[in-house]
Amino acid sequence: MIRKSLIPLALLSAVSLMTGCKSQMDKYIDNLMSKMTVEQKIGQLNLHSAGGFISALKVTEDDENIKALRRGEIGALYGSGDVSYNRQLQEIALESGAGIPLIFGMDVIHGYQTIFPVPLALSTSWNMDLIERTSRAAAKEASASGINWVFSPMVDIARDARWGRIVEGAGEDPYLGGEIAKAYVYGYQGHDDKFDKDEVLTCVKHYALYGGAEAGRDYNSVFLSRQEAMNGFMRPYAEAAKAGAASYMSSFNEFEGIPASANKYLLTDVLRDQFGFNGFVVSDATAVQEMVAHGIGNLQEVSARALQAGLDMDMNSDGFVATLKKSLDEKRISKKDIDIACRRVLEAKYKLGLFEDPFKYLDEERAKTEIFTDETRALAREAANESQVLLKNNGILPLKTSAKVAVIGPFADDKESMSGAWAMSKMNSQNVSIYQGIKELSHNIVTKAEGSWMMYDEDLEFNVKYGLMATFMPGFKGAPIHTVPQERLISEALAYARNADVIVACVGESNTMNGEGASRSDISLPDAQEDLLKALKSTGKPIVMVLTTGRPLVLNWEEENMDAILVTWSEGSEAGHSIADVLYGNVNPSGKLTTSFPRSVGQEPLYYNHKNTGRPHPDYDPYKKFTSNYMDVINAPLYPFGYGLSYTTFEYSPIKLSSDSMREKGKVKASVEVKNTGNYDGMETVQLYIHDCLSTSTRPVKELKGFQKIFLKAGEKKKVEFEITAEDLKYYNHELEYVCEPGDFEIFIGPDSQDLSRAILTLK
Ligand code: BGC
Repeated sequence: MIRKSLIPLALLSAVSLMTGCKSQMDKYIDNLMSKMTVEQKIGQLNLHSAGGFISALKVTEDDENIKALRRGEIGALYGSGDVSYNRQLQEIALESGAGIPLIFGMDVIHGYQTIFPVPLALSTSWNMDLIERTSRAAAKEASASGINWVFSPMVDIARDARWGRIVEGAGEDPYLGGEIAKAYVYGYQGHDDKFDKDEVLTCVKHYALYGGAEAGRDYNSVFLSRQEAMNGFMRPYAEAAKAGAASYMSSFNEFEGIPASANKYLLTDVLRDQFGFNGFVVSDATAVQEMVAHGIGNLQEVSARALQAGLDMDMNSDGFVATLKKSLDEKRISKKDIDIACRRVLEAKYKLGLFEDPFKYLDEERAKTEIFTDETRALAREAANESQVLLKNNGILPLKTSAKVAVIGPFADDKESMSGAWAMSKMNSQNVSIYQGIKELSHNIVTKAEGSWMMYDEDLEFNVKYGLMATFMPGFKGAPIHTVPQERLISEALAYARNADVIVACVGESNTMNGEGASRSDISLPDAQEDLLKALKSTGKPIVMVLTTGRPLVLNWEEENMDAILVTWSEGSEAGHSIADVLYGNVNPSGKLTTSFPRSVGQEPLYYNHKNTGRPHPDYDPYKKFTSNYMDVINAPLYPFGYGLSYTTFEYSPIKLSSDSMREKGKVKASVEVKNTGNYDGMETVQLYIHDCLSTSTRPVKELKGFQKIFLKAGEKKKVEFEITAEDLKYYNHELEYVCEPGDFEIFIGPDSQDLSRAILTLK
């Protein structure tokens, strides 16, 4: 049943609706808003959780959401991908209040039902087309499930591996992060501003600077200068806006003493006035209410501050619905403040086409046929194939199919952990485990053993495994942990190991050891698993370590003692197939790290694009007094940003510049020749870095400014060329002007951020 207020829209031509014609949209929304009460407008600014992440949903009249919906107090819901439930809710929304359709959101982060590699893994593919295709597929599945708004991409730059949410982003580099942000937005929303029925609104998060949390502690304060924020962190948010992102999510952290959700500098001056964003901003879950704990006012005050700073929608705090009318009556805020936010939300609904057809995304037929298809699973395997990073290989890889393999470790046959953080898929139990994948490709005996507890601390392991349920389900108990003694697990594993030609040790972090609220102060392999590796080492058999993780770990012992190390992150639905593809050489690994792997947690935050300081210390030199270094560890990471091996080898020629100087309006070409000198065909990501040698503000020692992923057959050679323009030389100076300054620039090209050849370019 569609309410009368929707009818005038039917008179508007479908074509102009679909093209999002501004004046028609304005007229429609003007007309609609002229009939809305203040309460109804405030209702549009309220987002509730449908609560459907863990339990099935049913419409009942005593449900708080249904009551609020009937009162016209909800503009959007998230957390339900149940088409028939969402359809019923949409009907209620159309019968209530101003009769405005709901938007349905969901944390679709790296796939919806078909799970793709976690974002950090995907970023190591350096393949923008691939990333776009995964978010395209996720949009199709989500939209077939009644969802038209995804809380992705997460584009927070993260320099500190202690922070659990490093897994959700694209790593430490703002240039790469910006390219990846665009790829996600295009995948979800398409390349134009109209929304087909399988395209959805994106929500870029967490705006802003959430990844700068102090000491990697989640939700913590960010202490960055505006200049460092703009140069080191903001680019991905800006690029997403350029790509047309429809919404942003304000973050939990404070910046310059003001929580992001009430920070006018971030939400209005930068996001809208500078980046040109014109969609709506939603708070992170309960972030409005959390500003009370931040200590900047009661719920009424923080709600008013948030609205006036540029926040349009309140997720889960009920701060807006509970207090904005009162603030208006008391003249703390104006009608205009409410209208601005309400219009932005209505515009999003209009652009989605919901006024024309509120049920556009609620098609039960699609839900039956477009989810978890052979096609999406093939894409998941392809994505995982390109998202593995080979850190070490003494020649044991690729494995021979004739070898007897013992697959050992807590992740050997663990399906759920393959999905990684933020995977709400009902299909997680159908993920392909590593053992399964190996068994399918091997021509010899494959055995498996759990080998170890996750960690010795039983309480911690309980928390890791059940923390989420324990938080949300009162009285939750969970199955007992550590039921089989560790010694028995190890001795079983050793029996298999001794009988094998090669051990594949599947160790690392479970899907609940990273992600939100999962920061760690010790980022080595958990103790019990470390002991398993040591026991396996004592057999003298070659060991390939397959590392499941959502963050860089400290791997010094492993680097010395393992025969090969393959980082497989959490690769999603097709993990096992894809990992076996790489282990057996059907796929040549090509992933390159997008986060530095430290030698010691004490090096964190660790990132390649750091400043030089006045007392620089060479990365690989031993300790020296009165320079910027540590007594007990060198400055260099164990594995640098951009690093990753292949089964083949690549040789780079020195850089050639088409000219050694340029003017601001000019351009110069920098090129190298890359030759595949090994025996396998392979892909290589060629990276361009630039260092500004002379500038009015200090600049990083190098910054990524370009990359190309190329394919070379064994023995083949290709010229790779980058065009350098003033754009690549610019930065935000102390006055926050985006400028390039005359002087010398070092130009570097190479296979990673350390192994580079160099030339000098002068900007005149
Ligand atoms: C997270 C967001 C997420 C939201 C809704 C928050 O706790 O920070 O990333 O989108 O919950 O589930």
